[in-house]
Amino acid sequence: MGDLASKVEEIRSEAEEKLRSATTEKELLEIKGKYFGRKGALSEILRSLPTLPVEERRVVGQKANETRKFLESLFDESLERIKEEARKRKAAASFVDVTLPGGMLPPGHRHPITATMEEINRVFSRLGFTIFGGPDIETDYYNFEALNIPKEHPARDMQDTFYVENLDRDILLRTHTSPIQIRVMEKLKPPVRVIAPGTVYRCDSDVTHSPMFHQVEGFAVDRDITFADLKGVLTEFCALMFGQDRGVRFRPSYFPFTEPSAEVDIECVICGGEGCRVCSETGWLEILGCGMIDPEVFRYVGYDPEEFSGFAFGMGVERIAMLRHGIGDIRLFFENDLRFLTQF
Ligand code: DAH
Repeated sequence: MGDLASKVEEIRSEAEEKLRSATTEKELLEIKGKYFGRKGALSEILRSLPTLPVEERRVVGQKANETRKFLESLFDESLERIKEEARKRKAAASFVDVTLPGGMLPPGHRHPITATMEEINRVFSRLGFTIFGGPDIETDYYNFEALNIPKEHPARDMQDTFYVENLDRDILLRTHTSPIQIRVMEKLKPPVRVIAPGTVYRCDSDVTHSPMFHQVEGFAVDRDITFADLKGVLTEFCALMFGQDRGVRFRPSYFPFTEPSAEVDIECVICGGEGCRVCSETGWLEILGCGMIDPEVFRYVGYDPEEFSGFAFGMGVERIAMLRHGIGDIRLFFENDLRFLTQF
């Protein structure tokens, strides 16, 4: 005897040790297959019983059956242990300690361009202007033609942009907010007082020019509006934006859609008028263009230039923000660097 009986014992102790240290269900099944499954080592021994002498057959048979029962129940126990461990690991991973202090989300704030634009809107709202918008994708007609800038006009050179031709009409990314003047006047009869903020696009890029930037347009049309009204409104605007004591001057200029036209300068915010690098030693900084709306524009929208007159103006929001905050590079506004943005 001896031989097969001790083989059974060997199987038992090997399989027991492996079942106890197994960590996955897959491992368990492999152990079962090898030692006490239908094709395992124990079954093989049981199958060989009929060839054994009677006495040995009894002893080995009993031992082998006992061993199989033992291993099977140890298998069930181990499977339960492994499942329980997995449950515990999962619970530990999703544990939330509700007594920990909460993480603070720093409060955000408006972008300096948004803040400046809203402030400009606020000043003009107080002066009785209503806010209007218009599309960023414009037609050639609204962006140029109806503003008295015909196809071959040299003023188009300064406002190059993206054009899409050969659709049912020519479209482009608007180069200024002035087309909103036309859109509003087509819809409303005078008196109108309108402020129109928006995004504009040009083929321009350096420290003071960005291919996408923001403008605020404004205009007023009524009976008997004169250049004095224009001067009064814009002087008040400069005082509210840049301080009551800041010098303001109107300088003759040219725009196709206004006649006469002017540009408005304020005393340099850096040197206060002495002359420095920022103002090119002139002591003055240009902040907007303006003028009396050209009768030609009124004809495009069906206003009678004999009955009505009006003024218009347009300014770059980035430029105003740069002057108010002493910022030297326009690109800072578009980089989204928090070291810059959190300063405002
Ligand atoms: N649209 C002009 C530009 O982008 C700015 C401008 C000048 C607007 C004079 C006006 C105006 O309304 O009267 O350069």
